Amino acid sequence: MVKENSPFTPGIPVPIDYFIGRAREIERISRAIVQTSSGRNENLFLTGERGIGKSSLSALTRYIAEEKYQFVGAHCYLGAARNVSDVCRIVLTKMLQAMPDKGLFERARTIAGKYIKGIQLGVFGVGMNIEFTDDQKLLEDLPLNFLSIMRGIFETIKEDKKGLLLILDDLNGMSNVPEFSYFLKSFVDEIASSQKPLPILLILVGIPDRMIDLTKNQPSISRIFNVIELNSMKNGESKEFFQKAFGSVGITIEPDALPDLTHYSGGLPVLLHEVGDAVYWEDSDNSIDKDDAIKGIFHAAENVGRKYLDQQVYQTLRSETYRSILRRMGKMPLEAEFKRKELVKEMNDSERRNFDNFRRRMEELGVLTKGEVQGEYKFVNELFRLYVIIESLMAEAGQ
Ligand SMILES: Nc1ncnc2c1ncn2[C@@H]1O[C@H](COP(=O)(O)OP(=O)(O)OP(=O)(O)O)[C@@H](O)[C@H]1O
Ligand SMILES: [Mg+2]
Repeated sequence: MVKENSPFTPGIPVPIDYFIGRAREIERISRAIVQTSSGRNENLFLTGERGIGKSSLSALTRYIAEEKYQFVGAHCYLGAARNVSDVCRIVLTKMLQAMPDKGLFERARTIAGKYIKGIQLGVFGVGMNIEFTDDQKLLEDLPLNFLSIMRGIFETIKEDKKGLLLILDDLNGMSNVPEFSYFLKSFVDEIASSQKPLPILLILVGIPDRMIDLTKNQPSISRIFNVIELNSMKNGESKEFFQKAFGSVGITIEPDALPDLTHYSGGLPVLLHEVGDAVYWEDSDNSIDKDDAIKGIFHAAENVGRKYLDQQVYQTLRSETYRSILRRMGKMPLEAEFKRKELVKEMNDSERRNFDNFRRRMEELGVLTKGEVQGEYKFVNELFRLYVIIESLMAEAGQ
């Protein structure tokens, strides 16, 4: 049997059809969209650890805002932005690209006219390329004019559209830039103090540390943004995810295999896809049994190690001594936090001698962090914890 269509999408935002759960968060976001469309500006900060599903929920938010509430939504990845002018350029480009038809596009484009040098339309408007002016002076002014451009764009399309959605995803490079914090603050303040309503929903997306960075430079930021935090999926949601995804390609899951799939992916969306995908390729008879599940989980752990652990962490963890400590850790019932004392009790002499070095190194590399109580540690993110658990499962199975 030749397989070609894995329903899993490890590492990239999930297609709307396979989106699972998040009902409460969707409800909160929908409320913010409704509030916005009545003419006021709303601001959210969507947060959660790496791989928890922030970009996927952002993409769904855009879909809902556009389809159900007649918004125009720009989902902007700021990974490459280095200054506020870059941010404005990316947002404006995405906003123009998001215009659903030529009429609206032409109107919006007129507003941004002087900043745009040329536009190349792809086939039927897909893959439209917008070339910005290379006049540095103009570009430097863009942040100052940004609000009035957004307002202008909304004014020209308001007969047809109810509001604008701006999603600023992957803030990493920008959250440390003080002028970005000031920019956000004055953007929001200016809307609030102007007489004319502007229905704009601003959603920032990033891991919790990014909010801390932004707030350091401008403490009011934490007051401006309502935080929506994403947590791991519930067991029932993970089950539903696997059943739906495998079901969509005519594959069934045997009852004793399903708990392994859900357990080792720990409700972390990024792992649901890594595990699902690896198991999918393991199976050869359209029925997932326990053997397929375990083999797939091993492969998934290797992929996770290679793809998501920082190269330095990955290399360090491959040393024999550290690996045996790691496996020892994985055999303990590892809660979100663990106590050094209890872990060391289970170790042999050499592991015990090396444990503190190991622990320090893992702290330096951002894998472990101290808990609130002395002698307590926790993993910086869930991906690390699950990796450790799967590693030790592999050791037990003699892989
Ligand atoms: N609600 C969901 N249902 C099904 N799969 C999901 C869901 N949310 C996320 N995923 C999957 O989990 C993985 C990580 O999702 P996503 O990229 O949205 O996370 P993220 O929080 O934006 O990660 P990062 O911090 O690395 O940007 C992807 O493979 C995605 O397809
Ligand atoms: Mg993301």
